[in-house]
Amino acid sequence: MNLNTFAQRPAYDGIARLLHWLIALLIAAQFVVGWTMPDVHRDTLPNGLIAWHLGVGAAIVAAVACRILWRATHTPAPAELSRPLKLISHFTHALLYALLVAVPLAGWANASSRGWAVKLLGVVRFPDLTQSGSPTGHALGDVHSVLAWALLVLIVLHVGAALFHRVVLKDGVLQRMLP
Ligand code: HEM
Ligand code: HEM
Repeated sequence: MNLNTFAQRPAYDGIARLLHWLIALLIAAQFVVGWTMPDVHRDTLPNGLIAWHLGVGAAIVAAVACRILWRATHTPAPAELSRPLKLISHFTHALLYALLVAVPLAGWANASSRGWAVKLLGVVRFPDLTQSGSPTGHALGDVHSVLAWALLVLIVLHVGAALFHRVVLKDGVLQRMLP
């Protein structure tokens, strides 16, 4: 099939694209903050960069919740792809969504187990996911770190695939998510 680069527009509506790029930006910032903030120990206080990590984290939780609700109620036009590529893209997108939920939830549960409040824009306090001192919440800190790596690997593959579509296949898939 001969597809030009505009053949697949429009696919995602404005809200879906806004949420996609907002979340991409917040997650990039969250990795930078996560890896530059001080190591977290038993008596660490949630100040400075750690407070930023919790604040950006709360924004990610809210944005991902909006995105999943929006996606469940607004289906994008299907991509014109071969069957294997369609299967691979559905699988990686589902895995991306799973990690967009699991990574923040594990971090949030860990914050709760440390007695740290998670607040959206410094105002709206989220409920605690675990009790203060909870061993499960403590263990979820390690799960959070490992799953954050898995998310990073998947994002690198996802961006690589988007660029592959643009540069090699020239099939307009990247345009589906651009203005
Ligand atoms: C933190 C970074 C990112 C995350 C978590 C992410 C996540 C996702 C997810 C979950 C989807 C599936 C959308 C759906 O069908 O509901 C998607 C689609 C898409 N993303 Fe990303 N993305 C990220 C960054 C990027 C970047 C940097 C690019 C471009 C270089 C990109 C290009 C695309 C494109 C073109 C689609 C549409 C694919 C299609 O319709 O088949 N994404 N992204
Ligand atoms: C996709 C979103 C997120 C990403 C990519 C991310 C990434 C990271 C990274 C890279 C670290 C450092 C891990 C290490 O040095 O081993 C970290 C630690 C941490 N994050 Fe997140 N994070 C996210 C969301 C959240 C959220 C929503 C919260 C809480 C509301 C949170 C709370 C924490 C806590 C408490 C730690 C310290 C864990 C420990 O060392 O036991 N994170 N995060």
